[in-house]
Amino acid sequence: VDKPNVVIVIFGATGDLSKRKLFPSIYRLYQNGKIGEDFAVVGLARRPWTNDIFREKVCESINESQAHNEDDLESFAAHFYYQSFDVTDNSSYTHLDGLLDQLEGQYQTNGNRVFYLAMAPEYFGTIANQLEQNGLKESAGWTRLVIEKPFGHDLASAKELNNQIRLAFNEDQIYRIDHYLGKEMVQNIEVIRFANGIFEHLWNNRFISNIQVTSSEKLGVEERARYYDRSGATRDMVQNHMLQMVALLAMEPPIKLTPDEIRSEKVKVLRALRLVEPTEVENYFVRGQYGPGRLGKGYREEAPELKDSTTETYVAGKVMIDNYRWAGVPFYIRTGKKMKEKSIKIVVEFRDIPMNLYYKDESERHPNLLVINIQPDEGITLHLNAKKAGVGSIAQPIELSYTNNGVDGINTPEAYEKLIYDCIIGDTTNFTHWDEVAYSWKFVDAVLDAWSETEPLFPNYTAGSMGPEAADRLLEKDGFHWWPVT
Ligand code: BG6
Repeated sequence: VDKPNVVIVIFGATGDLSKRKLFPSIYRLYQNGKIGEDFAVVGLARRPWTNDIFREKVCESINESQAHNEDDLESFAAHFYYQSFDVTDNSSYTHLDGLLDQLEGQYQTNGNRVFYLAMAPEYFGTIANQLEQNGLKESAGWTRLVIEKPFGHDLASAKELNNQIRLAFNEDQIYRIDHYLGKEMVQNIEVIRFANGIFEHLWNNRFISNIQVTSSEKLGVEERARYYDRSGATRDMVQNHMLQMVALLAMEPPIKLTPDEIRSEKVKVLRALRLVEPTEVENYFVRGQYGPGRLGKGYREEAPELKDSTTETYVAGKVMIDNYRWAGVPFYIRTGKKMKEKSIKIVVEFRDIPMNLYYKDESERHPNLLVINIQPDEGITLHLNAKKAGVGSIAQPIELSYTNNGVDGINTPEAYEKLIYDCIIGDTTNFTHWDEVAYSWKFVDAVLDAWSETEPLFPNYTAGSMGPEAADRLLEKDGFHWWPVT
Protein backbone atom coordinates (compact mmCIF):
# COMPACT_ATOMS: atom_id res chain seq x y z
CA VAL A 1 0.00 0.00 0.00
CA ASP A 2 1.16 3.51 -0.71
CA LYS A 3 1.98 5.49 2.36
CA PRO A 4 -0.44 8.35 2.77
CA ASN A 5 1.01 11.70 1.74
CA VAL A 6 -0.28 14.65 3.66
CA VAL A 7 0.29 18.02 5.25
CA ILE A 8 -1.06 18.17 8.78
CA VAL A 9 -1.86 21.66 10.01
CA ILE A 10 -2.15 21.85 13.78
CA PHE A 11 -4.01 24.78 15.34
CA GLY A 12 -2.80 25.02 18.92
CA ALA A 13 0.68 23.64 18.26
CA THR A 14 2.15 25.13 21.42
CA GLY A 15 -0.48 23.50 23.60
CA ASP A 16 -0.47 20.55 25.91
CA LEU A 17 -2.24 18.12 23.59
CA SER A 18 0.23 18.73 20.79
CA LYS A 19 3.13 18.17 23.10
CA ARG A 20 1.82 15.16 24.99
CA LYS A 21 -0.08 13.32 22.29
CA LEU A 22 0.15 14.64 18.76
CA PHE A 23 3.92 14.97 18.21
CA PRO A 24 4.78 11.61 19.78
CA SER A 25 1.99 9.92 17.83
CA ILE A 26 3.07 11.36 14.50
CA TYR A 27 6.60 10.30 15.37
CA ARG A 28 5.49 6.74 16.01
CA LEU A 29 3.71 6.65 12.67
CA TYR A 30 6.96 7.77 11.07
CA GLN A 31 9.06 5.33 13.03
CA ASN A 32 6.74 2.43 12.21
CA GLY A 33 6.75 3.29 8.54
CA LYS A 34 3.06 4.22 8.48
CA ILE A 35 3.99 7.55 6.95
CA GLY A 36 6.97 7.96 4.67
CA GLU A 37 9.02 11.05 3.84
CA ASP A 38 6.22 12.79 1.99
CA PHE A 39 4.57 14.55 4.84
CA ALA A 40 4.88 17.89 6.58
CA VAL A 41 3.42 19.31 9.76
CA VAL A 42 2.60 22.97 10.12
CA GLY A 43 2.25 24.21 13.67
CA LEU A 44 0.14 27.28 14.32
CA ALA A 45 -0.29 29.29 17.50
CA ARG A 46 -0.01 32.84 18.70
CA ARG A 47 3.55 32.67 20.05
CA PRO A 48 6.27 34.09 17.83
CA TRP A 49 8.25 30.88 17.45
CA THR A 50 10.54 30.01 14.54
CA ASN A 51 10.80 26.68 12.73
CA ASP A 52 13.88 25.95 14.80
CA ILE A 53 12.27 26.58 18.15
CA PHE A 54 9.27 24.54 17.06
CA ARG A 55 11.45 21.63 15.98
CA GLU A 56 13.28 21.74 19.27
CA LYS A 57 9.96 21.54 21.13
CA VAL A 58 8.89 18.65 18.97
CA CYS A 59 12.11 16.77 19.78
CA GLU A 60 11.74 17.58 23.47
CA SER A 61 8.23 16.21 23.54
CA ILE A 62 9.38 12.99 21.90
CA ASN A 63 12.34 12.70 24.24
CA GLU A 64 9.92 12.91 27.12
CA SER A 65 7.65 10.20 25.72
CA GLN A 66 9.16 6.71 26.03
CA ALA A 67 10.21 5.17 22.78
CA HIS A 68 12.47 7.02 20.41
CA ASN A 69 15.55 6.70 18.34
CA GLU A 70 18.04 9.59 18.28
CA ASP A 71 19.03 8.91 14.69
CA ASP A 72 15.77 9.54 12.97
CA LEU A 73 14.53 12.22 15.33
CA GLU A 74 16.32 14.97 13.49
CA SER A 75 15.15 13.93 10.05
CA PHE A 76 11.65 13.61 11.51
CA ALA A 77 11.69 17.08 13.05
CA ALA A 78 12.84 18.60 9.73
CA HIS A 79 9.29 17.96 8.46
CA PHE A 80 7.89 20.47 10.97
CA TYR A 81 7.19 24.14 10.18
CA TYR A 82 5.85 26.88 12.35
CA GLN A 83 3.75 29.94 11.67
CA SER A 84 2.69 32.48 14.23
CA PHE A 85 -1.05 32.75 13.76
CA ASP A 86 -4.06 34.85 14.70
CA VAL A 87 -7.20 32.78 14.10
CA THR A 88 -9.37 35.83 13.55
CA ASP A 89 -7.07 37.56 11.10
CA ASN A 90 -7.45 36.98 7.33
CA SER A 91 -3.83 37.64 6.61
CA SER A 92 -2.80 34.72 8.80
CA TYR A 93 -4.80 32.44 6.52
CA THR A 94 -3.40 33.95 3.33
CA HIS A 95 0.07 33.46 4.66
CA LEU A 96 -0.75 29.85 5.59
CA ASP A 97 -2.08 29.24 2.11
CA GLY A 98 1.25 30.37 0.69
CA LEU A 99 3.17 28.13 3.06
CA LEU A 100 1.03 25.13 2.14
CA ASP A 101 1.58 25.75 -1.56
CA GLN A 102 5.29 25.86 -0.95
CA LEU A 103 5.29 22.67 1.12
CA GLU A 104 3.14 20.88 -1.40
CA GLY A 105 5.85 21.63 -3.96
CA GLN A 106 8.57 20.46 -1.64
CA TYR A 107 6.90 17.22 -0.48
CA GLN A 108 4.75 15.04 -2.71
CA THR A 109 1.66 15.42 -0.57
CA ASN A 110 -0.75 15.57 -3.51
CA GLY A 111 -2.61 18.49 -2.00
CA ASN A 112 -3.92 16.35 0.88
CA ARG A 113 -4.55 18.49 3.93
CA VAL A 114 -5.58 17.73 7.48
CA PHE A 115 -6.59 20.69 9.62
CA TYR A 116 -6.34 19.64 13.22
CA LEU A 117 -8.07 21.89 15.77
CA ALA A 118 -6.33 21.27 19.06
CA MET A 119 -7.26 24.49 20.81
CA ALA A 120 -9.97 26.44 22.60
CA PRO A 121 -13.37 25.38 21.24
CA GLU A 122 -14.69 28.95 20.97
CA TYR A 123 -12.71 29.30 17.73
CA PHE A 124 -13.69 26.06 16.02
CA GLY A 125 -16.43 27.69 13.95
CA THR A 126 -14.37 30.74 13.05
CA ILE A 127 -11.43 28.66 11.88
CA ALA A 128 -13.55 26.32 9.78
CA ASN A 129 -15.13 29.25 8.01
CA GLN A 130 -11.94 31.19 7.56
CA LEU A 131 -10.33 28.13 5.99
CA GLU A 132 -13.15 27.96 3.50
CA GLN A 133 -13.30 31.68 2.76
CA ASN A 134 -9.58 32.01 2.28
CA GLY A 135 -9.48 29.16 -0.18
CA LEU A 136 -7.48 26.76 1.97
CA LYS A 137 -9.84 23.94 1.15
CA GLU A 138 -9.15 24.34 -2.54
CA SER A 139 -6.25 22.03 -3.06
CA ALA A 140 -5.47 19.29 -5.53
CA GLY A 141 -6.23 16.60 -2.94
CA TRP A 142 -8.66 16.00 -0.10
CA THR A 143 -9.14 18.20 2.96
CA ARG A 144 -10.26 16.97 6.37
CA LEU A 145 -11.04 18.73 9.62
CA VAL A 146 -10.18 17.10 12.93
CA ILE A 147 -11.91 18.51 15.97
CA GLU A 148 -11.00 17.94 19.57
CA LYS A 149 -13.58 17.99 22.33
CA PRO A 150 -15.48 19.60 23.81
CA PHE A 151 -17.97 19.63 20.95
CA GLY A 152 -20.34 22.19 22.48
CA HIS A 153 -21.41 22.76 26.06
CA ASP A 154 -24.91 21.34 25.66
CA LEU A 155 -27.13 20.24 22.79
CA ALA A 156 -28.01 23.79 21.74
CA SER A 157 -24.44 25.04 21.56
CA ALA A 158 -23.26 21.83 19.92
CA LYS A 159 -25.91 22.33 17.22
CA GLU A 160 -24.81 25.87 16.69
CA LEU A 161 -21.19 24.83 16.41
CA ASN A 162 -22.08 22.03 14.05
CA ASN A 163 -24.07 24.33 11.81
CA GLN A 164 -21.16 26.74 11.66
CA ILE A 165 -18.70 24.03 10.74
CA ARG A 166 -21.05 22.46 8.24
CA LEU A 167 -21.12 25.72 6.30
CA ALA A 168 -17.53 25.00 5.39
CA PHE A 169 -17.08 21.22 5.66
CA ASN A 170 -19.25 18.21 4.82
CA GLU A 171 -20.00 15.63 7.46
CA ASP A 172 -17.65 13.16 5.77
CA GLN A 173 -14.78 15.64 6.02
CA ILE A 174 -15.29 16.17 9.75
CA TYR A 175 -13.40 13.93 12.16
CA ARG A 176 -14.64 14.46 15.71
CA ILE A 177 -12.11 12.95 18.07
CA ASP A 178 -13.08 10.78 20.99
CA HIS A 179 -9.75 9.33 21.99
CA TYR A 180 -11.39 6.41 23.81
CA LEU A 181 -12.37 5.10 20.39
CA GLY A 182 -8.68 4.81 19.59
CA LYS A 183 -7.94 2.61 22.59
CA GLU A 184 -7.03 -0.91 21.63
CA MET A 185 -9.39 -2.58 24.11
CA VAL A 186 -12.28 -0.26 23.33
CA GLN A 187 -11.91 -1.30 19.70
CA ASN A 188 -11.80 -4.85 20.95
CA ILE A 189 -15.33 -4.70 22.43
CA GLU A 190 -16.81 -5.24 19.01
CA VAL A 191 -14.53 -8.15 18.19
CA ILE A 192 -15.01 -9.87 21.55
CA ARG A 193 -18.75 -9.59 21.09
CA PHE A 194 -19.20 -10.39 17.45
CA ALA A 195 -16.45 -12.95 16.89
CA ASN A 196 -17.47 -15.24 19.79
CA GLY A 197 -20.60 -17.35 19.86
CA ILE A 198 -20.22 -17.96 23.58
CA PHE A 199 -20.73 -14.27 24.28
CA GLU A 200 -22.95 -13.02 21.52
CA HIS A 201 -25.65 -15.64 22.08
CA LEU A 202 -25.89 -14.57 25.73
CA TRP A 203 -25.54 -10.86 25.08
CA ASN A 204 -29.02 -9.67 26.03
CA ASN A 205 -31.48 -9.15 28.87
CA ARG A 206 -32.19 -12.84 29.29
CA PHE A 207 -28.65 -13.68 30.33
CA ILE A 208 -26.97 -10.47 31.44
CA SER A 209 -28.10 -8.91 34.71
CA ASN A 210 -26.15 -5.65 34.50
CA ILE A 211 -23.09 -4.05 32.94
CA GLN A 212 -20.68 -1.75 34.78
CA VAL A 213 -18.42 0.73 33.05
CA THR A 214 -15.81 2.51 35.15
CA SER A 215 -13.25 5.11 34.22
CA SER A 216 -11.60 6.33 37.38
CA GLU A 217 -8.64 8.66 37.55
CA LYS A 218 -6.17 9.51 40.25
CA LEU A 219 -5.39 12.83 38.63
CA GLY A 220 -7.22 15.97 39.64
CA VAL A 221 -7.89 18.95 37.38
CA GLU A 222 -4.19 19.74 36.94
CA GLU A 223 -3.75 22.95 34.93
CA ARG A 224 -7.22 22.88 33.48
CA ALA A 225 -9.30 24.36 36.28
CA ARG A 226 -10.81 26.99 34.03
CA TYR A 227 -12.04 24.53 31.44
CA TYR A 228 -12.94 21.83 33.92
CA ASP A 229 -14.95 23.95 36.29
CA ARG A 230 -17.23 25.00 33.45
CA SER A 231 -17.48 21.47 32.27
CA GLY A 232 -17.56 18.94 35.12
CA ALA A 233 -17.30 15.18 34.90
CA THR A 234 -20.60 14.73 33.08
CA ARG A 235 -19.67 16.90 30.12
CA ASP A 236 -16.01 15.98 30.25
CA MET A 237 -16.39 12.21 30.34
CA VAL A 238 -19.98 10.96 30.16
CA GLN A 239 -21.26 12.82 27.11
CA ASN A 240 -18.45 11.35 25.06
CA HIS A 241 -16.26 8.51 26.35
CA MET A 242 -18.67 6.76 28.70
CA LEU A 243 -21.66 6.82 26.35
CA GLN A 244 -19.48 5.72 23.46
CA MET A 245 -18.45 2.65 25.44
CA VAL A 246 -22.08 1.96 26.31
CA ALA A 247 -23.01 2.24 22.65
CA LEU A 248 -20.33 -0.27 21.64
CA LEU A 249 -21.44 -2.68 24.36
CA ALA A 250 -25.10 -2.43 23.46
CA MET A 251 -25.24 -2.05 19.70
CA GLU A 252 -26.63 -4.66 17.33
CA PRO A 253 -24.16 -6.46 15.07
CA PRO A 254 -23.53 -4.28 12.03
CA ILE A 255 -24.26 -5.85 8.66
CA LYS A 256 -20.81 -4.86 7.45
CA LEU A 257 -17.71 -3.39 9.04
CA THR A 258 -18.07 -0.07 7.30
CA PRO A 259 -18.13 3.25 9.14
CA ASP A 260 -21.71 3.97 8.11
CA GLU A 261 -23.03 0.61 9.22
CA ILE A 262 -21.27 0.70 12.57
CA ARG A 263 -22.27 4.25 13.29
CA SER A 264 -25.86 3.64 12.42
CA GLU A 265 -26.00 0.81 14.98
CA LYS A 266 -24.41 3.02 17.62
CA VAL A 267 -26.84 5.81 16.88
CA LYS A 268 -29.75 3.43 17.43
CA VAL A 269 -28.48 2.69 20.93
CA LEU A 270 -28.05 6.35 21.78
CA ARG A 271 -31.53 7.05 20.50
CA ALA A 272 -32.91 4.38 22.82
CA LEU A 273 -31.35 5.82 25.98
CA ARG A 274 -34.07 6.48 28.52
CA LEU A 275 -34.08 10.21 29.25
CA VAL A 276 -33.97 10.90 32.94
CA GLU A 277 -37.04 12.73 34.25
CA PRO A 278 -36.24 15.75 36.44
CA THR A 279 -38.08 14.26 39.42
CA GLU A 280 -36.31 10.93 38.97
CA VAL A 281 -32.74 12.13 38.74
CA GLU A 282 -31.81 10.95 42.23
CA ASN A 283 -32.79 7.42 41.31
CA TYR A 284 -30.56 7.35 38.28
CA PHE A 285 -27.59 9.63 38.83
CA VAL A 286 -25.20 10.54 41.61
CA ARG A 287 -22.83 13.48 41.46
CA GLY A 288 -19.81 14.06 43.62
CA GLN A 289 -16.98 16.43 44.30
CA TYR A 290 -13.82 15.47 46.14
CA GLY A 291 -12.77 16.97 49.42
CA PRO A 292 -9.34 16.64 51.00
CA GLY A 293 -8.11 13.09 51.49
CA ARG A 294 -5.37 10.58 50.93
CA LEU A 295 -4.58 12.08 47.53
CA GLY A 296 -4.27 15.65 48.77
CA LYS A 297 -6.35 18.79 48.62
CA GLY A 298 -10.03 19.02 47.95
CA TYR A 299 -11.27 20.36 44.61
CA ARG A 300 -12.30 23.69 46.12
CA GLU A 301 -8.78 24.22 47.38
CA GLU A 302 -7.07 23.44 44.07
CA ALA A 303 -7.34 27.02 42.79
CA PRO A 304 -8.72 30.28 44.22
CA GLU A 305 -11.51 30.44 41.65
CA LEU A 306 -12.79 27.02 42.71
CA LYS A 307 -13.52 28.15 46.26
CA ASP A 308 -17.30 27.90 46.02
CA SER A 309 -17.50 25.58 43.07
CA THR A 310 -20.47 23.26 42.70
CA THR A 311 -18.99 21.48 39.70
CA GLU A 312 -19.10 17.70 39.88
CA THR A 313 -15.78 15.87 39.66
CA TYR A 314 -17.52 12.52 39.87
CA VAL A 315 -20.61 11.04 38.34
CA ALA A 316 -22.24 7.65 38.57
CA GLY A 317 -25.35 6.76 36.65
CA LYS A 318 -27.77 4.05 35.81
CA VAL A 319 -28.35 4.13 32.11
CA MET A 320 -31.33 2.26 30.70
CA ILE A 321 -31.59 1.34 27.06
CA ASP A 322 -35.20 0.91 26.13
CA ASN A 323 -35.01 -1.56 23.29
CA TYR A 324 -35.77 -5.22 22.74
CA ARG A 325 -32.32 -6.53 23.61
CA TRP A 326 -31.74 -4.49 26.75
CA ALA A 327 -35.09 -3.77 28.36
CA GLY A 328 -34.58 -4.07 32.12
CA VAL A 329 -30.77 -4.29 32.12
CA PRO A 330 -29.03 -1.42 33.88
CA PHE A 331 -25.77 -0.12 32.47
CA TYR A 332 -24.05 1.46 35.44
CA ILE A 333 -21.39 4.00 34.62
CA ARG A 334 -19.04 5.90 36.90
CA THR A 335 -16.15 8.24 36.39
CA GLY A 336 -14.30 10.73 38.51
CA LYS A 337 -11.15 12.61 39.37
CA LYS A 338 -8.95 11.93 42.40
CA MET A 339 -10.22 8.43 42.86
CA LYS A 340 -8.42 5.49 44.36
CA GLU A 341 -7.13 3.95 41.15
CA LYS A 342 -6.57 4.79 37.53
CA SER A 343 -8.72 2.21 35.88
CA ILE A 344 -10.87 1.87 32.82
CA LYS A 345 -12.82 -1.31 33.00
CA ILE A 346 -16.03 -2.96 31.89
CA VAL A 347 -17.69 -5.71 33.89
CA VAL A 348 -20.47 -7.73 32.30
CA GLU A 349 -22.37 -9.62 34.99
CA PHE A 350 -24.31 -12.65 33.87
CA ARG A 351 -27.49 -13.84 35.50
CA ASP A 352 -27.32 -16.76 37.85
CA ILE A 353 -28.45 -20.17 36.67
CA PRO A 354 -31.94 -21.27 37.81
CA MET A 355 -30.69 -23.73 40.40
CA ASN A 356 -27.20 -23.71 41.81
CA LEU A 357 -26.40 -26.55 44.21
CA TYR A 358 -22.75 -25.86 44.68
CA TYR A 359 -22.66 -23.31 47.44
CA LYS A 360 -23.75 -23.30 51.06
CA ASP A 361 -24.54 -19.69 51.64
CA GLU A 362 -25.11 -16.59 49.58
CA SER A 363 -21.59 -15.28 50.14
CA GLU A 364 -20.13 -18.23 48.26
CA ARG A 365 -22.18 -17.55 45.20
CA HIS A 366 -20.21 -16.04 42.35
CA PRO A 367 -21.91 -14.90 39.20
CA ASN A 368 -20.06 -15.30 35.93
CA LEU A 369 -18.35 -12.10 34.90
CA LEU A 370 -16.70 -11.03 31.73
CA VAL A 371 -14.24 -8.28 32.54
CA ILE A 372 -12.79 -6.15 29.78
CA ASN A 373 -9.69 -4.35 31.02
CA ILE A 374 -9.00 -1.24 29.03
CA GLN A 375 -6.40 0.53 31.14
CA PRO A 376 -3.82 0.27 32.63
CA ASP A 377 -4.08 -3.48 32.02
CA GLU A 378 -5.31 -4.50 28.62
CA GLY A 379 -7.07 -7.79 28.34
CA ILE A 380 -10.09 -9.86 29.25
CA THR A 381 -10.87 -12.03 32.23
CA LEU A 382 -13.67 -14.52 32.45
CA HIS A 383 -14.85 -15.42 35.95
CA LEU A 384 -16.19 -18.96 36.16
CA ASN A 385 -16.92 -21.50 38.86
CA ALA A 386 -15.12 -24.81 39.14
CA LYS A 387 -14.89 -27.57 41.68
CA LYS A 388 -12.86 -26.89 44.72
CA ALA A 389 -10.19 -29.57 44.91
CA GLY A 390 -10.79 -32.35 47.44
CA VAL A 391 -13.64 -31.15 49.56
CA GLY A 392 -16.86 -32.59 48.14
CA SER A 393 -19.01 -30.72 45.68
CA ILE A 394 -18.29 -27.10 46.39
CA ALA A 395 -17.70 -24.58 43.68
CA GLN A 396 -15.02 -21.96 43.83
CA PRO A 397 -14.46 -19.01 41.55
CA ILE A 398 -11.67 -19.27 38.99
CA GLU A 399 -10.46 -16.83 36.37
CA LEU A 400 -9.42 -17.27 32.77
CA SER A 401 -7.32 -14.33 31.75
CA TYR A 402 -5.86 -12.95 28.61
CA THR A 403 -3.49 -10.02 28.82
CA ASN A 404 -2.84 -7.95 25.78
CA ASN A 405 0.19 -6.23 27.31
CA GLY A 406 2.22 -9.41 27.34
CA VAL A 407 1.72 -9.96 23.64
CA ASP A 408 2.18 -6.59 22.06
CA GLY A 409 3.82 -4.90 25.01
CA ILE A 410 5.05 -1.42 24.30
CA ASN A 411 4.04 -1.82 20.69
CA THR A 412 0.40 -1.34 21.52
CA PRO A 413 -0.24 1.85 19.59
CA GLU A 414 -1.41 4.89 21.45
CA ALA A 415 -5.00 5.92 20.84
CA TYR A 416 -3.93 9.12 19.11
CA GLU A 417 -1.55 7.34 16.84
CA LYS A 418 -4.31 5.15 15.53
CA LEU A 419 -6.78 7.97 15.16
CA ILE A 420 -4.38 10.22 13.27
CA TYR A 421 -3.59 7.35 10.95
CA ASP A 422 -7.28 6.58 10.44
CA CYS A 423 -7.86 10.19 9.55
CA ILE A 424 -5.14 10.31 6.92
CA ILE A 425 -6.34 7.10 5.31
CA GLY A 426 -9.91 8.39 5.45
CA ASP A 427 -11.41 5.83 7.84
CA THR A 428 -14.11 7.53 9.89
CA THR A 429 -15.16 4.46 11.89
CA ASN A 430 -13.61 5.57 15.15
CA PHE A 431 -14.74 9.17 15.04
CA THR A 432 -18.08 10.39 16.28
CA HIS A 433 -20.76 11.26 13.81
CA TRP A 434 -22.89 14.32 14.49
CA ASP A 435 -25.93 12.17 15.28
CA GLU A 436 -24.03 10.42 18.06
CA VAL A 437 -22.94 13.75 19.50
CA ALA A 438 -26.47 15.09 19.39
CA TYR A 439 -28.17 12.12 21.09
CA SER A 440 -25.48 12.00 23.75
CA TRP A 441 -25.98 15.65 24.56
CA LYS A 442 -29.71 15.19 24.72
CA PHE A 443 -29.27 12.47 27.32
CA VAL A 444 -26.70 14.35 29.36
CA ASP A 445 -28.60 17.64 29.20
CA ALA A 446 -31.59 16.02 30.90
CA VAL A 447 -29.42 15.04 33.86
CA LEU A 448 -27.64 18.37 34.07
CA ASP A 449 -30.91 20.31 33.84
CA ALA A 450 -32.38 18.30 36.68
CA TRP A 451 -29.28 18.83 38.80
CA SER A 452 -29.28 22.55 38.18
CA GLU A 453 -32.53 22.77 40.19
CA THR A 454 -30.80 21.95 43.46
CA GLU A 455 -27.60 22.85 45.22
CA PRO A 456 -25.41 19.78 45.74
CA LEU A 457 -23.95 18.91 49.13
CA PHE A 458 -20.28 19.01 48.20
CA PRO A 459 -17.68 17.79 48.94
CA ASN A 460 -19.02 14.26 49.35
CA TYR A 461 -16.06 11.97 48.72
CA THR A 462 -12.46 12.16 49.79
CA ALA A 463 -9.55 12.45 47.39
CA GLY A 464 -8.31 8.90 46.96
CA SER A 465 -11.60 7.08 47.56
CA MET A 466 -13.89 5.31 45.09
CA GLY A 467 -16.51 8.10 45.17
CA PRO A 468 -19.57 9.02 47.22
CA GLU A 469 -21.52 6.40 49.15
CA ALA A 470 -24.66 7.27 47.26
CA ALA A 471 -23.09 5.60 44.23
CA ASP A 472 -23.07 2.29 46.10
CA ARG A 473 -26.70 2.66 47.01
CA LEU A 474 -27.56 3.26 43.37
CA LEU A 475 -26.70 -0.40 42.72
CA GLU A 476 -27.72 -1.81 46.07
CA LYS A 477 -31.33 -0.88 45.57
CA ASP A 478 -31.30 -3.01 42.41
CA GLY A 479 -29.64 -5.89 44.26
CA PHE A 480 -26.17 -5.35 42.76
CA HIS A 481 -22.87 -3.87 43.83
CA TRP A 482 -19.87 -2.40 42.05
CA TRP A 483 -17.26 -4.98 41.23
CA PRO A 484 -13.84 -3.86 42.35
CA VAL A 485 -11.67 -2.33 39.65
CA THR A 486 -8.45 -4.06 40.69
C1 BG6 B 1 -10.24 13.57 28.57
C2 BG6 B 1 -10.76 14.44 29.68
O1 BG6 B 1 -11.15 13.54 27.51
O2 BG6 B 1 -10.02 12.27 29.05
C3 BG6 B 1 -9.80 14.44 30.83
O3 BG6 B 1 -10.95 15.76 29.20
C4 BG6 B 1 -9.49 13.03 31.27
O4 BG6 B 1 -10.33 15.19 31.92
C5 BG6 B 1 -9.07 12.17 30.08
O5 BG6 B 1 -8.43 13.10 32.19
C6 BG6 B 1 -8.94 10.73 30.49
O6 BG6 B 1 -8.37 10.00 29.45
P1 BG6 B 1 -7.65 8.62 29.69
O7 BG6 B 1 -7.29 8.15 28.34
O8 BG6 B 1 -6.48 8.89 30.56
O9 BG6 B 1 -8.65 7.76 30.41
